[in-house]
Order: sequence, then C-alpha cells, then structure tokens
Amino acid sequence: MDLSTLADSIWRELEQANTGRKHPWRTPVLASIDIAGLPQARTVVLRKVCRNTQTLQFFTDSRSPKVGQLRASDQIQLVFWSSVLHWQLRISAQARIETSGAEVDKAWQRIKQSPARQDYLSPFAPGDALPDAATMALEENPNLAIITATVTHMDWLSLSPKGHQRAEISATTIRWLTP
Ligand SMILES: Cc1cc2nc3c(=O)[nH]c(=O)nc-3n(C[C@H](O)[C@H](O)[C@H](O)COP(=O)(O)O)c2cc1C
Repeated sequence: MDLSTLADSIWRELEQANTGRKHPWRTPVLASIDIAGLPQARTVVLRKVCRNTQTLQFFTDSRSPKVGQLRASDQIQLVFWSSVLHWQLRISAQARIETSGAEVDKAWQRIKQSPARQDYLSPFAPGDALPDAATMALEENPNLAIITATVTHMDWLSLSPKGHQRAEISATTIRWLTP
C-alpha cells in the first residue's frame, strides 16, 4: 500500500460500504461515552458517506440512550473490520444529532416506504421494558434522528502474512505507524 493513495482507497471502500449491502464495513461499531464516563459501543448501519465534507451518517431512534450520550459528549469512535480486505479502520469523529429539519424529513420520506418505518413509530424507546400486552399502536410522528460524524482522525491497520501495516491519517498528518 502506498501512503499517498491510502486515504483515497479508504474513502473508496467507505463509499462502497454505503452502497453495497454485503460490504463488511456497512455495519461498524459506534462507541460513545455515557454520562457516567463509561464506554458504550453498539453496531450501526452506515447510511451516507461524503468525502468532501469528511462525514459519515447513521440513523437512530431519537429516544435511544446513545442520543443523550452524544448530546452530552460528542467525541465518538467508529470501528470497521473487513475480513475480505483484512483491514481494520478506527475513525475518531465528532458527532452531531439532528431530529428535525430538511435532512431528517428527506430521510423519513425514504424510510417510511420500508419495513423499518415501524422502528421509528414504536411507542416505546429502545431499551424500554415491553409491556405484556401484545398489541401496540404506532405513533404518528417518527422518532428519527440522524447522527452525522465528522471525521477527525483515522487509524488504519492491514493484516497480512507478508507483514502488517498501520497508518495514521488526519487533516495534518499521514504517516506509517508500527502495527
Ligand atoms: C446489524 C445491526 C445493525 C444495527 N443498526 C442500527 C442502526 O443503524 N441504528 C441504531 O440506532 N441501532 C442499530 N442497531 C442496534 C444497536 O446496535 C443498539 O442495540 C441500539 O441502537 C441501542 O443502542 P443504545 O442503547 O446504545 O442507544 C443495530 C444492531 C445490529 C445487530
């Protein structure tokens, strides 16, 4: 791998992960810090990739615990692993939450055509204990939030029998690291 083209290759893979349902980078782990200072990590689906703005987007329920965590502490890490490429990518980023506005409306227009619409219309927040009664009325307004992660730093690791490689990429730095 050539250091001068590494950032291009990584962003190309992220773009492919956004469009290809089977790409292993489609479902990274998003780690945040909760209000007690404890780590909280969970799998999410990559929904948008924009190299120009150095941003990645994810959808979530606006009532989910992660939304409160990200509002209180916006520093996150995203971990991607591909057993096809043998690449791990750890992205450090700053998260922004949107629960209304044109972008949320546009995303909802798409989601509401799909079975996922139910996820955002449930009367219960993610993590709530479910009541015994099996029936539940869906809410009228979606509880959709968009998480926009602005990339600040990438830590790329490539595993190979010929020798592992690791590199750090940020706005000011591109350099090899000891794997
Ligand atoms: C394959 C997979 C994909 C998931 N995608 C999402 C997602 O895109 N957004 C989301 O909020 N939760 C997603 N989840 C559920 C989260 O991992 C998590 O359980 C849930 O959001 C509650 O997290 P929280 O309690 O930290 O807010 C996904 C889980 C799996 C297993």
